[in-house]
Amino acid sequence: MTSPLSSSISDAVKPGNASTAGVPTPSGPNAPNGQYFQQLDLCAPSPYPRSWYVRKALWAVVQTLLFRPSPRRLMGFRIWLVNRFGGRVDRTCVLRPSCKITHPWLLTMGPYATLAENVTVYNLGPISIGPHTVISQNVHLCNGTHDYRDRSLPLVCPTMTIGGGVWVCADAFVGPGVTIGDNTIVAARAVVTKDAPSNSILGGNPARVLRERPAPTK
Ligand SMILES: CC(C)(COP(=O)(O)OP(=O)(O)OC[C@H]1O[C@@H](n2cnc3c(N)ncnc32)[C@H](O)[C@@H]1OP(=O)(O)O)[C@@H](O)C(=O)NCCC(=O)NCCS
Repeated sequence: MTSPLSSSISDAVKPGNASTAGVPTPSGPNAPNGQYFQQLDLCAPSPYPRSWYVRKALWAVVQTLLFRPSPRRLMGFRIWLVNRFGGRVDRTCVLRPSCKITHPWLLTMGPYATLAENVTVYNLGPISIGPHTVISQNVHLCNGTHDYRDRSLPLVCPTMTIGGGVWVCADAFVGPGVTIGDNTIVAARAVVTKDAPSNSILGGNPARVLRERPAPTK
């Protein structure tokens, strides 16, 4: 037996029911030509160069079994692993074990650059991080997107460049293809979607320049 409540819910989700206006139903989407704007069956099943797949599989194993469980202080070991996979990470860098790097061979880090706990380096395209730059906890460097003007959503893999002396504060999101100038601070929880000038402090969503970063006095 169905309760009045459950029958009203099932009525509401029946395909074509007027109360589901705006929600795509099995009989066709609410789109001008009756087609969805994206068709995932058209997506390239293997969007990366062929030679990458073995490397990606090996890195997944190495990251899970060696990189992430490694003791916090074994910095040199993690840098060595990343560089074995084609990274260009200076030996003075700090890589915390919980940070996650998608393609080590597309990562460049200058001297003393730091990836803190739980940083996500989603580098479908190259990411370069300048010297003395800190990427704080839970930051997402999201350097990959899709061309949504094409129904097959092809991957777009731009280049992200983060200058030297930059501080990307906790929980910030830095979007695809962004360049951040030297000495800039991206405030906590900022969402950076456009290039950021040097020597500034950015914040908010979308991030805007809040003010100039003052030169250090000490
Ligand atoms: C960016 C930051 C360094 C600025 O510090 P500050 O100069 O002491 O900033 P203040 O607290 O004096 O705030 C100055 C202004 O910036 C704004 N502001 C500060 N943090 C902000 C943020 N995350 N997003 C948006 N605006 C922010 C303040 O509201 C204030 O605005 P107002 O001038 O209109 O009143 C700091 O806010 C921050 O994000 N710290 C990062 C913390 C962190 O990531 N810790 C983990 C790593 S150790």
